[in-house]
Order: sequence, then structure tokens, then C-alpha cells
Amino acid sequence: MQKLSVKEKLILKTKKQKTNFKNVELSDIKKIVSIEADCHISPWSKTNFLDSISAGNLFQVLKNDELITGYYIASFASDECELLNITVSKHLHRQGFGKTMISHLIKKCIERKTSNLFLEVRRSNKNAILLYEKKGFNEVGIRPNYYKTSDGNEDAILMALSL
Ligand SMILES: CC(C)(COP(=O)(O)OP(=O)(O)OC[C@H]1O[C@@H](n2cnc3c(N)ncnc32)[C@H](O)[C@@H]1OP(=O)(O)O)[C@@H](O)C(=O)NCCC(=O)NCCS
Repeated sequence: MQKLSVKEKLILKTKKQKTNFKNVELSDIKKIVSIEADCHISPWSKTNFLDSISAGNLFQVLKNDELITGYYIASFASDECELLNITVSKHLHRQGFGKTMISHLIKKCIERKTSNLFLEVRRSNKNAILLYEKKGFNEVGIRPNYYKTSDGNEDAILMALSL
């Protein structure tokens, strides 16, 4: 788990002014894999992240100085975009970083003249669904039993935002 040092806690007090998006660097991956493992039921592996870089996906890291507060990955094809991963460091949930990342992605989509932004989310992931609804996404479909859980399967909710 990414433990926050005293210095990091102080940095976060000024988070609104000092948080910036950066393109991912290879040196970020170790910390990202650790954040991912803390935050997901089925976390991406190091290889998944490296493959995403090789595929040329948009891979943005939200940093406060050198502290990684979150990251998102999106793929673009013709005039559509799919959000593949969005994660905020576990210590830093519910401080607006998720909203900041979705807003950033929407800006990127508009710059690239994307018509629709899609994502999939576990039915049980109420916090993420609330975030997406708050940013204007609507449910557009369901993949029954798409995700594994500890004791079975659960649906994927497909959500979309028209731009
Ligand atoms: C989903 C996730 C990215 C949200 O990021 P976040 O920085 O915690 O979210 P924000 O602080 O921007 O919250 C945005 C809105 O989402 C909703 N929300 C987020 N967390 C919530 C919680 N714990 N309880 C209730 N509502 C919540 C609220 O509507 C909130 O708006 P508000 O604070 O104005 O009420 C984050 O919880 C996360 O990384 N989860 C683990 C990984 C994951 O599930 N990723 C999504 C996979 S599809």
C-alpha cells in the first residue's frame, strides 16, 4: 500500500494548487501496480499496464509533486473513446480526484473530436457509478455475469456519455 509520509500529507494540504496531470513514465509503474492492488477486486498486472503503454493508449497520471494520487487509461478508436481504468490512491478517495480525472478525460475527448465516451463498471461499485452519473454518464446496457467475484459473478453496467 502507498503509505503517506508526513511530507506527503503536507503536500496534499495544497492539493488543489499543486496537482497536475503527466503522461505516464516507466518509473511510475511500480507505484501504480501497488495502488491498483489496493483498490481493485481484479487488479491489472504490471504487464497489463506496460501493454497499455505499448498500445498507445492515453495513460495519464495525476501527481502532486512526485506523489501519485491517481491515474486513468483510455483508448481511442475512430470517434469513440473507452475508459479502461480509473483509480484514485486508496488513502485519497472522496477528495474530488476522481471527478478531476473524468473532467480531464472529457476535455481530451473534445480535443480529439470524440462523439461518445464509454465505460464498464461492476454493478456493486456504487461509488464509481455515482461518480459517472455525476459527470453525465447514462446506463446504456448490461453484460450479465461479466465480472468474477469472490463467490460467483456480477453484471457489468455499460455507461456512455455523448459529447
Ligand atoms: C471510483 C473512484 C475512482 C472515485 O474517485 P474519488 O476520487 O474517490 O471520487 P470523488 O471524490 O471525485 O467523488 C465523486 C463523486 O462520486 C461519488 N462518490 C465517490 N466515492 C464515494 C463514497 N465513498 N461514498 C459515496 N459517494 C461517493 C460522490 O457522488 C462524489 O461526489 P461528492 O463528493 O460531490 O458527493 C475511486 O473510489 C476508486 O479509485 N475506486 C477504486 C477503483 C475503481 O473502482 N475504479 C473504477 C472502476 S470502473
